[in-house]
Amino acid sequence: MIFIGSAFLPAFAEGDAARGAKPGYTCLGCHGIEGYRNAYPSYRVPKLGGQKASYLVVALRGYRDGMRAHPTMAGQASSLTDQQIEDLAAYFASLNADRVAAGGSRAPSNEATTTCIACHGQNGISLSPTWPTLAGQHEDYLVHALNQYRDGKRKDPVMSPIVAALSDDDIALLAKYYARLDGLQTTKAE
Ligand code: HEC
Ligand code: HEC
Repeated sequence: MIFIGSAFLPAFAEGDAARGAKPGYTCLGCHGIEGYRNAYPSYRVPKLGGQKASYLVVALRGYRDGMRAHPTMAGQASSLTDQQIEDLAAYFASLNADRVAAGGSRAPSNEATTTCIACHGQNGISLSPTWPTLAGQHEDYLVHALNQYRDGKRKDPVMSPIVAALSDDDIALLAKYYARLDGLQTTKAE
């Protein structure tokens, strides 16, 4: 049996980063402005630069197909074909990819993250292309995302039961911890 190194990355292989750059330009109106905020509730628009391609595909399909509720993003994704989603994901994943692939910062040990490490990695850089990297993500977006899993507004068979056990203090601590690690970047329009 022969295993090819990239066999685990079908979504990334199919996407064309160069083709994703042009439609990706409109996204930078929000995702490309440092610290840009979602109006209500107020939290910073998530960083996409260096995020895992397959996770970006899952997220965009989630908005398009109604599994993830957010009016603006649903509007952005509503008319995208699967191919356009693959290309956009390849484009954003390619930005800052070398820095993220290098392993980010050396994370100080933290008891709270014991269960998270198995998937989101020792340094907050996830171990599978379908799991999001957390390192360097905006703290208030991480709080928002974790609260959404806990409130059931965002459903995921893996994350929902994990977050159900977390207190507000746990969520605040985890978000602060991952936001401080080196990793994801706000991508700038060139
Ligand atoms: C008007 C502002 C705006 C524009 C334009 C926009 N986004 Fe977003 N995007 C957001 C906000 C706000 C969120 C967080 C939504 C949530 O809470 O789920 C988000 C979330 C995302 C996520 C999920 C990130 C994660 O970590 O889960 C992806 C992927 C994404 N956007 C990609 C895109 C792409 C690709 C485009 C262009 C086609 C785009 N966005 C255009 C505001 C915007
Ligand atoms: C078994 C694997 C696994 C474990 C363990 C795990 N996660 Fe996740 N995590 C995922 C997956 C898969 C997703 C994407 C789910 C989705 O599509 O909404 C995710 C999504 C997230 C997100 C949303 C990221 C974004 O960009 O929107 C945050 C924040 C997060 N996890 C934090 C944590 C924390 C904190 C822990 C530990 C308390 C943890 N996770 C444990 C697999 C895991």
